Order: sequence, then structure tokens, then C-alpha cells
Amino acid sequence: MKVGVLGIGITKFGEIWDKGLRELLLDAQLLALKDAKIEAKQIDALYTGNMCGDSLSGQLHVGAMAAENLNLDKASIRVEGACASGSLALREGVLAIESGQADIVMVNGVEKMTDVSTEQVTTALMGAGDEELEGFNGLTFPGLYALLAKAYMTKYSKLTRDLLAEVSVKNHFHGARNSYAQFKSEITIDTVKNATMVADPLTLFDCSPITDGAASIILASEKTAKAMKSQVYITGSGLANDSLSLARRSSLTSIPAGAVAAQRAYSQAKIKVDDINFAEVHDCFSIAEILAVEALGLAKPGEAYKLYENKDTYFDGAHPVNTSGGLKACGHPIGATGVKQAIEAVEQLRGHAKNRQVKDAKIGVTHNVGGSGATVCVHVFKGE
Ligand code: COA
Repeated sequence: MKVGVLGIGITKFGEIWDKGLRELLLDAQLLALKDAKIEAKQIDALYTGNMCGDSLSGQLHVGAMAAENLNLDKASIRVEGACASGSLALREGVLAIESGQADIVMVNGVEKMTDVSTEQVTTALMGAGDEELEGFNGLTFPGLYALLAKAYMTKYSKLTRDLLAEVSVKNHFHGARNSYAQFKSEITIDTVKNATMVADPLTLFDCSPITDGAASIILASEKTAKAMKSQVYITGSGLANDSLSLARRSSLTSIPAGAVAAQRAYSQAKIKVDDINFAEVHDCFSIAEILAVEALGLAKPGEAYKLYENKDTYFDGAHPVNTSGGLKACGHPIGATGVKQAIEAVEQLRGHAKNRQVKDAKIGVTHNVGGSGATVCVHVFKGE
């Protein structure tokens, strides 16, 4: 499989007071068109990742909005898979091209989250869990990941509190080098440990924030992409699913769907884990990054702590992870996150990542999780 990337566009992530859902989406779309050097009418189909348009902005039908923004009558749909909505939209775009239904596709992700209270956001996000078993009983997403952190750190005691905090310290270090990141401040282990407790053991600085933002990427068939001298291709797309609730999960110390999705993507791309030069992973909470690097095979089960002990996951380390700043520092506008991860992969493979550039990057993977692991989507990107 080989689908080219023609262009990318991304808005600033954070609390964007002066833009609504529509304007954020439009800004990213226009930036991607400009980068791709194509006109909107050349697009055959649009896929837009969005989770909370209805619950936080009263706006459903975001697929139609994406087409209307560009004055197009082309096929355009919203894709929803909780926090994995963006990568699911990307996968739909890849499949549309692979099936021959489309030659050029625009994939978007957008979320407007900061116009309502944290309580409203927390309730809306809990729709990604199991309402009967979890939401109804008072669980929240920080609570769910705190349970995973407790289970993991009980089984694997070598992941100390300080090493878990290192995940956020490293992601803030990268975020400080990313112009569109929500948080551009470097922090220390003490910042994480001394911050307000959200859900034991996770403090404020173990959590991704609430974020507005949008991202767009334009894909094309290999033939068109080659003709347009594209430097980056998607060569693998793996998707796997598991139970909505943690109660029905086979493991609380891993995210099984992550490993399955990764193997599916690697096998399609014909790569081995050793071929990977960098990864953008779903660190909605610090423990999620630990589970992600193990799911991708970058560390054996229970051994991710070694990567953080050795500082391997920095952009100039042996296994760079989340050079964008991840969800923690870059921000997590739910539907846009999966597309943002793809944009970071493209920036790295084009050699445009400036002071967070991974040296000689040729292969990168993105890993995007919906809920507490009920959906995981992994893509492989190759630079040429
Ligand atoms: N990391 C660091 N700082 C953060 C932060 C975060 N995750 N979230 C908020 N802040 C900062 C704000 O910038 C603000 O700083 P300021 O006072 O200097 O302006 C301060 O903390 C208070 O912000 P506020 O928005 O009032 O925080 P809150 O208490 O309402 O929300 C959380 C904090 C952690 C509860 C919220 O960000 C959250 O729910 N995050 C998880 C989102 C989630 O579940 N996503 C889905 C994952 S699957």
C-alpha cells in the first residue's frame, strides 16, 4: 500500500477565543490546500474527525460543514471514534484512495472544547467509555487511566513515580519547541509531582489539557503523489478494537488493541519495529504513553521505564516519542489529534521539524487511541 501526502495544515492549539468550530476547520483546510498547491475543486472526497461537535458546540453534521467551507459538493462525511476520530478519518481517506473511489482526498480533524465548563467536557468525553458500566457509576477519563496506572505500577514497580513524570517532562520539552503547541514551558519532575492531584496517582501535569484546534492533510494516489513530487507516503494502516469498558478488558497493564493495530500496520508496510525512527503516540495521560510504547513494541511489557531512565524518547534519543509535544504539551483537541500526529510525522519526514528534528528520519508511526483502548489506529509513514 502506498498513498502520498500532498499537503498539511494546522491551527494553533489551545484556548482560541476568537474562532468557532467552523473557522478553526476552515483555517486548517486553507493551510493544507496552500501547502499542497492544489485548488479545492481537485478534491474528490473529504473525511473529518470530530467527537464533540454536538455535545460541546451544538453542531452535528461536520462533514457537510467541511465541504461547505470550500464551496464543494463532493462526498464529505464526519468520522467519529472518540479520541481516535482523527486517525479513523485518515484511514477512511487512505481506503478511499486505495479502493480507487478517489484520487485526491482531504482529511480533517477539528474540536472546539474551551467554550464550556470542565464538568461539561468531562461528561462529554465519558461518552468514549462504557456509559452503563463506567460513566453511570461516576468514572471519568482521568479516573480510568488512574486505574490503569495503579494496576501497571503495582505489577511493574520499576516504573517509579519519577519515571512516570519523565513522560510529561519530555513532552513539555518538545512542546516548548513546537510553534503551535498549547504549552510551551519546560517543566521538571517536581512540577509534575507537586501539581494538584486529579485522580491518584495522576496530577494535573500527568493529564492532557482541554484544547481547541484543527488539522488537515491532503492525500493522493501514489501516481498523482509521485507526479507532484510528494516526499512522504503512508504505507500501513492498522485498526483494532476491544471492549468499551475496562471491566471487560483482558488486561489492565497493557492496551491489547494497540499491539494488534501495530502489527497490522507494520505487516502492511512490511516493516519491523527496529525500522521505526520515531513515533507519535497517544499520551492522553502519562501512563498512556508507557502503554503505547509497549504496544508498539518499542519496549517489552513492563520495561518501558528503561526508555525514560535513559532519556531515549527525546528527539535526539534512540527512540524519539512525541516530538510534537504529544497530547500533553501540544494539546488534545479530540477529533484533531490523530491528524496532528500525522502532520508531525510529515514534518519530520520532510526534514522540517527544526529544533526538534529527528536525524535521518525515514520511517515514523502514529498511534491514536479511542477511549481507554477500545479503538486503536496505527499508521506507518515513509519519507522518500
Ligand atoms: N496540564 C498543565 N496545565 C494545565 C492543564 C494540563 N493538563 N490543564 C489546565 N492547565 C492549567 C491551565 O492553563 C490553567 O493555568 P493558569 O491558571 O496559569 O491559566 C490552570 O491549569 C487551570 O486550568 P483549568 O482549565 O481551570 O483546569 P481544570 O481544573 O478545569 O482542568 C483537567 C484540568 C486536568 C481536569 C482537564 O484539563 C482535563 O480534564 N484533562 C483531561 C482531558 C481528557 O480526559 N481528555 C481525553 C483523554 S482520553
